[in-house]
Amino acid sequence: MKAVMATNNPNKLKEAREILAPLGIEVLSQQEAGAAVEPEENGETFADNAMIKAKAVFDVVHMPVFADDSGLCVDALHGAPGVHSARYAPKGQECDKLLREMQNVPDAERSAHFACCIAYIDENGSGTLSAACHGKIGYTQRGGNGFGYDPVFLYNGRTLAELSSDEKNAISHRGAALRLLYEVYQERYGKQDADK
Ligand code: IMP
Repeated sequence: MKAVMATNNPNKLKEAREILAPLGIEVLSQQEAGAAVEPEENGETFADNAMIKAKAVFDVVHMPVFADDSGLCVDALHGAPGVHSARYAPKGQECDKLLREMQNVPDAERSAHFACCIAYIDENGSGTLSAACHGKIGYTQRGGNGFGYDPVFLYNGRTLAELSSDEKNAISHRGAALRLLYEVYQERYGKQDADK
Protein backbone atom coordinates (compact mmCIF):
# COMPACT_ATOMS: atom_id res chain seq x y z
CA MET A 1 0.00 0.00 0.00
CA LYS A 2 0.95 3.64 -0.37
CA ALA A 3 0.64 6.27 2.34
CA VAL A 4 1.53 9.95 2.25
CA MET A 5 3.59 11.44 5.07
CA ALA A 6 2.39 14.97 5.81
CA THR A 7 5.71 16.62 6.55
CA ASN A 8 8.17 19.08 5.08
CA ASN A 9 10.95 17.63 7.27
CA PRO A 10 13.25 15.41 5.16
CA ASN A 11 14.71 13.72 8.27
CA LYS A 12 11.30 12.53 9.42
CA LEU A 13 10.50 11.33 5.90
CA LYS A 14 13.78 9.39 5.69
CA GLU A 15 13.18 7.67 9.03
CA ALA A 16 9.56 6.83 8.17
CA ARG A 17 10.67 5.24 4.91
CA GLU A 18 13.40 3.23 6.62
CA ILE A 19 10.88 1.94 9.18
CA LEU A 20 7.82 1.34 6.96
CA ALA A 21 9.33 0.20 3.63
CA PRO A 22 10.48 -3.18 5.05
CA LEU A 23 6.90 -3.63 6.33
CA GLY A 24 5.53 -3.18 2.81
CA ILE A 25 4.32 0.42 3.10
CA GLU A 26 5.54 2.81 0.42
CA VAL A 27 5.78 6.28 1.92
CA LEU A 28 5.19 9.17 -0.48
CA SER A 29 6.26 12.67 0.43
CA GLN A 30 3.52 15.27 0.38
CA GLN A 31 5.26 16.88 -2.60
CA GLU A 32 5.17 13.57 -4.51
CA ALA A 33 1.47 13.33 -3.73
CA GLY A 34 0.90 16.90 -4.97
CA ALA A 35 0.10 18.56 -1.66
CA ALA A 36 2.18 21.72 -1.27
CA VAL A 37 0.69 22.74 2.07
CA GLU A 38 2.31 24.06 5.23
CA PRO A 39 -0.46 24.47 7.81
CA GLU A 40 0.09 26.54 10.92
CA GLU A 41 0.90 24.21 13.84
CA ASN A 42 -1.03 26.12 16.49
CA GLY A 43 -2.28 23.17 18.55
CA GLU A 44 -1.53 22.78 22.25
CA THR A 45 -0.49 19.15 22.10
CA PHE A 46 1.54 16.87 19.84
CA ALA A 47 -1.71 15.12 18.90
CA ASP A 48 -3.41 18.41 17.93
CA ASN A 49 -0.51 19.43 15.70
CA ALA A 50 -0.14 15.99 14.12
CA MET A 51 -3.85 15.99 13.22
CA ILE A 52 -3.66 19.54 11.80
CA LYS A 53 -0.87 18.40 9.43
CA ALA A 54 -2.52 15.10 8.47
CA LYS A 55 -5.86 16.74 7.76
CA ALA A 56 -4.36 19.51 5.62
CA VAL A 57 -2.74 16.95 3.34
CA PHE A 58 -5.66 14.47 3.37
CA ASP A 59 -8.02 17.20 2.17
CA VAL A 60 -5.84 17.50 -0.95
CA VAL A 61 -4.80 13.92 -1.70
CA HIS A 62 -7.73 11.75 -0.43
CA MET A 63 -5.55 8.71 0.18
CA PRO A 64 -4.02 7.31 3.40
CA VAL A 65 -2.09 10.09 5.13
CA PHE A 66 -0.12 10.19 8.36
CA ALA A 67 1.75 12.99 10.11
CA ASP A 68 4.33 13.04 12.88
CA ASP A 69 4.46 15.71 15.54
CA SER A 70 7.30 15.21 17.94
CA GLY A 71 9.63 16.91 20.34
CA LEU A 72 11.97 16.70 23.27
CA CYS A 73 10.58 17.00 26.82
CA VAL A 74 13.21 17.77 29.47
CA ASP A 75 12.16 17.13 33.07
CA ALA A 76 14.44 19.81 34.57
CA LEU A 77 12.82 22.34 32.20
CA HIS A 78 9.28 21.25 33.19
CA GLY A 79 8.75 19.47 29.86
CA ALA A 80 10.21 22.19 27.61
CA PRO A 81 10.89 22.55 24.73
CA GLY A 82 8.07 20.02 24.16
CA VAL A 83 5.62 21.02 21.42
CA HIS A 84 7.83 24.05 20.76
CA SER A 85 10.93 21.93 19.98
CA ALA A 86 11.12 23.05 16.36
CA ARG A 87 10.96 26.74 17.35
CA TYR A 88 13.09 26.63 20.54
CA ALA A 89 16.19 28.07 18.81
CA PRO A 90 17.29 28.96 15.29
CA LYS A 91 17.86 25.80 13.25
CA GLY A 92 21.22 24.22 14.12
CA GLN A 93 21.46 26.03 17.46
CA GLU A 94 18.96 23.98 19.47
CA CYS A 95 21.60 21.73 21.07
CA ASP A 96 23.83 24.65 22.09
CA LYS A 97 20.91 26.44 23.69
CA LEU A 98 19.73 23.34 25.53
CA LEU A 99 23.21 22.57 26.89
CA ARG A 100 23.49 26.17 28.10
CA GLU A 101 20.15 25.96 29.90
CA MET A 102 21.17 22.64 31.45
CA GLN A 103 24.69 23.61 32.50
CA ASN A 104 23.94 23.69 36.24
CA VAL A 105 21.61 20.69 36.30
CA PRO A 106 23.14 17.71 38.16
CA ASP A 107 23.42 14.28 36.60
CA ALA A 108 20.51 12.79 38.57
CA GLU A 109 18.13 15.46 37.24
CA ARG A 110 18.97 15.32 33.53
CA SER A 111 16.22 12.89 32.50
CA ALA A 112 14.27 13.62 29.30
CA HIS A 113 12.19 11.90 26.69
CA PHE A 114 11.39 12.29 23.04
CA ALA A 115 7.67 12.11 22.33
CA CYS A 116 6.13 11.28 18.97
CA CYS A 117 2.49 11.42 18.04
CA ILE A 118 1.35 10.02 14.71
CA ALA A 119 -2.02 11.15 13.37
CA TYR A 120 -3.50 9.08 10.55
CA ILE A 121 -6.47 9.63 8.27
CA ASP A 122 -7.96 7.56 5.49
CA GLU A 123 -11.43 6.79 4.18
CA ASN A 124 -12.04 4.56 7.25
CA GLY A 125 -11.51 7.39 9.72
CA SER A 126 -8.76 9.01 11.75
CA GLY A 127 -6.81 8.45 14.95
CA THR A 128 -3.63 9.23 16.85
CA LEU A 129 -0.87 7.01 18.24
CA SER A 130 1.84 8.00 20.71
CA ALA A 131 5.21 6.66 21.76
CA ALA A 132 8.25 7.87 23.69
CA CYS A 133 11.97 7.25 24.01
CA HIS A 134 13.42 7.82 27.49
CA GLY A 135 16.98 8.92 28.16
CA LYS A 136 18.93 11.87 29.51
CA ILE A 137 20.61 15.05 28.34
CA GLY A 138 24.41 14.83 28.06
CA TYR A 139 26.99 17.56 28.64
CA THR A 140 28.41 17.88 25.11
CA GLN A 141 27.26 17.19 21.57
CA ARG A 142 28.41 13.83 20.21
CA GLY A 143 27.89 11.99 16.92
CA GLY A 144 27.15 12.97 13.35
CA ASN A 145 23.98 11.03 12.54
CA GLY A 146 20.34 11.94 12.97
CA PHE A 147 19.02 15.48 13.36
CA GLY A 148 17.69 18.02 15.83
CA TYR A 149 18.50 17.15 19.45
CA ASP A 150 20.04 13.74 18.67
CA PRO A 151 23.63 14.85 19.54
CA VAL A 152 22.68 15.69 23.16
CA PHE A 153 20.19 12.91 23.91
CA LEU A 154 21.80 9.94 25.66
CA TYR A 155 20.28 6.49 25.38
CA ASN A 156 22.21 3.78 27.23
CA GLY A 157 25.40 5.84 27.21
CA ARG A 158 25.41 6.82 23.53
CA THR A 159 23.74 9.81 21.93
CA LEU A 160 21.13 9.13 19.26
CA ALA A 161 23.51 10.84 16.83
CA GLU A 162 26.09 8.12 17.60
CA LEU A 163 23.65 5.34 16.65
CA SER A 164 23.28 3.99 13.12
CA SER A 165 19.88 4.70 11.57
CA ASP A 166 18.83 1.07 12.17
CA GLU A 167 19.85 1.34 15.83
CA LYS A 168 17.98 4.62 16.28
CA ASN A 169 14.84 3.38 14.51
CA ALA A 170 14.76 0.28 16.74
CA ILE A 171 14.53 2.31 19.97
CA SER A 172 13.21 5.72 18.92
CA HIS A 173 9.88 7.37 19.69
CA ARG A 174 9.23 7.60 15.93
CA GLY A 175 10.10 3.94 15.34
CA ALA A 176 7.71 2.82 18.10
CA ALA A 177 4.87 5.09 16.92
CA LEU A 178 5.27 4.04 13.28
CA ARG A 179 5.18 0.37 14.24
CA LEU A 180 1.81 1.10 15.91
CA LEU A 181 0.71 2.76 12.66
CA TYR A 182 1.71 -0.37 10.79
CA GLU A 183 -0.63 -2.38 13.05
CA VAL A 184 -3.51 -0.03 12.19
CA TYR A 185 -2.77 -0.34 8.47
CA GLN A 186 -2.53 -4.12 8.80
CA GLU A 187 -5.99 -4.21 10.39
CA ARG A 188 -7.44 -1.95 7.71
CA TYR A 189 -5.65 -3.16 4.60
CA GLY A 190 -4.32 -6.64 5.52
CA LYS A 191 -0.74 -7.82 5.69
CA GLN A 192 1.53 -5.87 3.35
CA ASP A 193 4.24 -7.42 1.22
CA ALA A 194 7.57 -5.58 1.15
CA ASP A 195 8.52 -7.20 -2.19
CA LYS A 196 5.51 -5.87 -4.09
P1 IMP B 1 7.66 19.29 14.60
O1 IMP B 1 7.15 17.91 14.93
O2 IMP B 1 7.67 19.54 13.14
O3 IMP B 1 7.01 20.33 15.42
O4 IMP B 1 9.22 19.34 14.98
C1 IMP B 1 9.73 18.51 15.93
C2 IMP B 1 11.12 19.00 16.37
O5 IMP B 1 11.48 18.18 17.48
C3 IMP B 1 12.19 18.76 15.32
O6 IMP B 1 12.40 19.88 14.52
C4 IMP B 1 13.41 18.45 16.18
O7 IMP B 1 14.01 19.63 16.63
C5 IMP B 1 12.80 17.74 17.38
N1 IMP B 1 12.79 16.27 17.15
C6 IMP B 1 11.73 15.48 16.88
N2 IMP B 1 12.11 14.21 16.71
C7 IMP B 1 13.44 14.20 16.86
C8 IMP B 1 14.42 13.17 16.75
O8 IMP B 1 14.14 11.99 16.44
N3 IMP B 1 15.68 13.55 16.98
C9 IMP B 1 16.04 14.83 17.30
N4 IMP B 1 15.19 15.84 17.37
C10 IMP B 1 13.88 15.52 17.16
